[in-house]
Amino acid sequence: MEADFWRTRWQRNEIGFHQERPHDALARFWEPLALAPGARVFVPLAGKSLDLVWLARQGHAVVGIELSEIAVRDFHTEHGPIDGLDLRCGDLFDLTAGTLGRIDAVFDRASLVALPPPMRQRYAAQLAELSPPGTRTLLVTMEYDQSRMAGPPHSVPEAEVHELFGATHHIEWLARDSCLSDFPRFSQRGVDALAEAFYLLTRR
Ligand SMILES: C[S@@+](CC[C@H](N)C(=O)[O-])C[C@H]1O[C@@H](n2cnc3c(N)ncnc32)[C@H](O)[C@@H]1O
Repeated sequence: MEADFWRTRWQRNEIGFHQERPHDALARFWEPLALAPGARVFVPLAGKSLDLVWLARQGHAVVGIELSEIAVRDFHTEHGPIDGLDLRCGDLFDLTAGTLGRIDAVFDRASLVALPPPMRQRYAAQLAELSPPGTRTLLVTMEYDQSRMAGPPHSVPEAEVHELFGATHHIEWLARDSCLSDFPRFSQRGVDALAEAFYLLTRR
């Protein structure tokens, strides 16, 4: 059901979530993660995001997982081969720590917030399963009045981040930015306040 929803979005090219540049959170918050240049970074629910390119250019080995064959094909057509980048077509929930391989960090932008509430619990459990102790995750969430608009992207308030990850991760809140003017489609749908929030999670 959820998989069909996303495959259809890609078939219809309804990909308003895709950004034409890497997310600002990377330039702002990635360096403090203090990763070694060759660290292996996992990007769940990757789409054809330019964040993958940015991370590979930092010298990281990057592994992304994306359900849609169209997204993966378009990424390769648009960027060609990129050293150290492995964008896989498949379902996040089918990955095991063995098939994914060791990871040192995770970048989540528009991944957790793409999922409805029960799947967010499954997602958090799967990330914990795939992350060895010490793995650092830069998490970007969105916050708005969910009664004004049905997701995705869904609103994931700070309390929910703690519910989802508190048992498995140390959680450091980094920042919260108002961003309604950057996303006009939200105001068009009746949302009158929108923020992005940023967290650094460290796997216990
Ligand atoms: C909102 S988009 C965000 C993509 C990317 N993170 C970005 O910032 O552009 C969510 C993506 O997750 C993919 N997706 C949804 N469920 C998935 C799953 N279970 N496994 C892998 N990819 C999935 C969708 O096809 C879609 O491309």
